Amino acid sequence: MNLLKGKKGIVFGALNDMSIAWKTAEACHAQGAELVLTNAPVAMRMGAIQELAKKCGDAPIIPADATSVEDLEALFEGAMEHFGGKIDFVLHSIGMSPNVRKGKHYTDLKYPWLQQTLDVSAISLHKTLQVAMKLDAINQWGSVVGLSYIAAQRTFPDYGDMADAKSLLESIARSFGYHYGTAKQVRVNTISQSPTVTTAGSGVKGFDEFVAYAESMSPLGNASGEACADYCVSLFSDLTRYVTMQNLFHDGGFSNTGVSMEVISKFAKDSADGTEA
Ligand SMILES: NC(=O)c1ccc[n+]([C@@H]2O[C@H](COP(=O)([O-])OP(=O)(O)OC[C@H]3O[C@@H](n4cnc5c(N)ncnc54)[C@H](O)[C@@H]3O)[C@@H](O)[C@H]2O)c1
Repeated sequence: MNLLKGKKGIVFGALNDMSIAWKTAEACHAQGAELVLTNAPVAMRMGAIQELAKKCGDAPIIPADATSVEDLEALFEGAMEHFGGKIDFVLHSIGMSPNVRKGKHYTDLKYPWLQQTLDVSAISLHKTLQVAMKLDAINQWGSVVGLSYIAAQRTFPDYGDMADAKSLLESIARSFGYHYGTAKQVRVNTISQSPTVTTAGSGVKGFDEFVAYAESMSPLGNASGEACADYCVSLFSDLTRYVTMQNLFHDGGFSNTGVSMEVISKFAKDSADGTEA
C-alpha cells in the first residue's frame, strides 16, 4: 500500500524479533518508509538489531541511551544527516523497571530504582520530544508514538511501578502533544497494547496467566505484536493527521469489557464443582 512512502522515521527499542519495535520497523519498511534504528548501547551487544537493519534496507543503527539528552541529540543529528532532512515519525518503544525485574513488591520499592523506572520508561519520551523540538528535527504533521499499558488506568498488582511510569508516559504524550501540536502540527499519541510475549513483557510476574486472562476478557482476543505494528503504521501515515494527545487502546476490546461470558462460565463451573464437593 506504500502508506509511508517517502517518510523517514526513527525506531527505538528493537531488542529481538519478539520486540514490538522490531515488528513495527519491518511493517514501516514494508510500507515504504526509510528508517534509522536505535537502542541503548547495552542492548546492542546482543547483536540482533544488525539483522533487523539488513531487513530494513541497510538502515543505519545509532546507539542511544534514551535517558541521556546528549545521546538523543547525537541520534537526531545523525538521523537528519543520514536522511538529508527532517524526520516524519518516531516510535518510542522503551520500558524497564529494576523493581519489577528484581521482584520488588510495590509496597517495598527501592526508590533509586523507581527513579530509574520513571526515567527510562516515561521521562525518556519527554527528553526525546524536547530534543527533537529544540533541533526542529520533526517535519510538520509528523507523528510520535509511545507504547503504554492499561495498568496506567487500572491496577494490575504485579505490574508494580511500571504502572506509575505508564501513567506518566501517557500524561507526557498529552502535555507535549499540546505544545508540539500548536508549534509544528506534530502529533503525539500512546498506544495501550494488549499483553504481548516479549522480553520486557515476560519480565512481569505471572505473565502467562495475565495473557490468558486478557485473552478471555477481550471479545477479539489479545492484539498481537504484528497487529500493533500495523496500528503504528496507521498513526505514522497521513490517514490519521488529526489524531493527537490520545491514549489509544489496541487491546481487542479488553478495556471496555466488564466481564466476558468465558470468565462468567468459569465461575459457574467452579461453583458447580464446589456444590458437588
Ligand atoms: N509486552 C507487553 O506485554 C507490552 C504491553 C503493553 C505495552 N508494552 C510496551 O511496549 C514497549 C516495548 O516493549 P516490548 O514488549 O517490545 O519489549 P522489549 O523488551 O522487546 O523492548 C523494550 C526495549 O526497551 C529498551 N530500553 C530499555 N532501557 C533503555 C534505555 N535506557 N534507552 C533506550 N532503550 C532502552 C530495551 O533495550 C528494549 O529494546 C515498552 O514500552 C513496553 O512497556 C509492552
